[in-house]
Amino acid sequence: ADPEPVQDFCVAAVTNGSADHPSYPGFPCKPASAVVSDDFFFAGLAKSGAAEAADSPFGSSVTPGNVAAFPGLNTLGVSINRVDLAPGGVNPLHSHPRAAELVHVVAGQMLVGFVSTAGTFYSKVVREGESFVIPRGLVHFQFNTGKEAARAVTVFNSQLPGVVLAAPSLFGADPEIPDAVLAKSFQVDGEIIKLLKSKFRN
Ligand code: GLV
Ligand code: MN
Repeated sequence: ADPEPVQDFCVAAVTNGSADHPSYPGFPCKPASAVVSDDFFFAGLAKSGAAEAADSPFGSSVTPGNVAAFPGLNTLGVSINRVDLAPGGVNPLHSHPRAAELVHVVAGQMLVGFVSTAGTFYSKVVREGESFVIPRGLVHFQFNTGKEAARAVTVFNSQLPGVVLAAPSLFGADPEIPDAVLAKSFQVDGEIIKLLKSKFRN
């Protein structure tokens, strides 16, 4: 999904650990003479997120391996995350505006699903060693259906897929979306919107 590279690599000189760097979608290149093997190496996903997942209200932890975390990915059009799910945990409904996502389960089992633009829900219980793919931009989740911790590696065809979390983007936006807009959009009473906002606004 990203632009074609015009050179072998362009290790990001600065990423600021953030998606809102002024030169996004690319980052300035570190001089090639200063590039070392370690620029193409990333150990950030070696660390387990199981404890964070067990502690989180969703029972999940996503460790990103996008260009902000791994500067060597700049201009290469790929990235990777680690998803840890406690039993019963969910990586909550979200979408990626800039990439398709390949979910490869490396431990346990999880229900992985997305909804197409036609409104069809596609899902599958995916087990260790198996994969499922999420088309670009579609809302999806992973839900641990097993009794043990589960883990997936997710791979994207973008260095920075972006993430729109469904509930926080609607009920936690800052400044807030007016209650009247949400109530009418969801065809519910304003009290329900206030309740949802109380969960997703800090
Ligand atoms: C999982 O859906 C992820 O975005 O890593
Ligand atoms: Mn995802």
